[in-house]
Amino acid sequence: MAKLEAKNIGKWFVGSDGKENQSMVAIKGINLAIEEGQFVCFVGPSGCGKTTLLNILAGLDKPTEGEVILDGRPVYGTGPDRCMVFQETALFPWLKVIDNVEFGLRMKGVEKSKRHEQAMHYLDMMQLTKFADAYTYQLSGGMKQRVAIARALVMDPEVLLMDEPFAALDSQTRDLLLVELQLIWAKTKKTIVFITHNITESICLGDKVVVFSKRPGRVKKEISINYRRPRLPEDDSLRSFHRQVVDAMQGEITSEKRND
Ligand SMILES: Nc1ncnc2c1ncn2[C@@H]1O[C@H](COP(=O)(O)OP(=O)(O)O)[C@@H](O)[C@H]1O
Ligand SMILES: [Mg+2]
Repeated sequence: MAKLEAKNIGKWFVGSDGKENQSMVAIKGINLAIEEGQFVCFVGPSGCGKTTLLNILAGLDKPTEGEVILDGRPVYGTGPDRCMVFQETALFPWLKVIDNVEFGLRMKGVEKSKRHEQAMHYLDMMQLTKFADAYTYQLSGGMKQRVAIARALVMDPEVLLMDEPFAALDSQTRDLLLVELQLIWAKTKKTIVFITHNITESICLGDKVVVFSKRPGRVKKEISINYRRPRLPEDDSLRSFHRQVVDAMQGEITSEKRND
């Protein structure tokens, strides 16, 4: 049984006339099965509905049609089983790094010493132990992103949903995090759904790359990446996978502005 499934999901937004109409269709007929412990990447042209689908999988938004199935049961709304890491890290600037990571546990009522211990465990994993008492403005972009990942992991979600978490990083930091994230994933065995518009990122991280068509977004192709880990972005042997994703994207990006 799949861990997380999208069953015939469609979403259309309300137009200026105040009605949901077909001209605002963001995604349509999305069927996907994500296995337990699998690392799945979504790629597709900007505006094709990747974020819309991720928000629906997270329960932050409702589909117009179709269902999200978690462990065989339909889910409605958010839950501690699914945690989101956003593109722009939404850390609290008035809290120290450690308090940012502890925040969710505090909301859950976890007692002080226990949540401190758990938060430190993930900060340690992210090699941020020394920065526990720093404020987020004292950190680089890559460090902030690692805090955001620690904050999601500490909640021990079954599924981690990541929306272009590396998009704002410089390429050196991104390359480091690409390897780190694979090591963390191997340690924690989470099911991860990761959006990117960067093909190299997708083949470096994914067991499976799902390529979306332009709006209204549909699943155009699912590509399995069977290759040893940890993978380095510059590994030449990944080229044939890169080519497969580029081929699947062909025709989808011609009218889109791209930045990679
Ligand atoms: N809340 C909203 N209201 C109206 N249209 C939206 C809303 N959110 C997204 N859209 C539209 O839906 C489409 C898909 O958006 P999005 O999921 O953000 O794409 P992606 O993440 O692939 O770039 C876009 O055309 C976008 O303008
Ligand atoms: Mg998006």
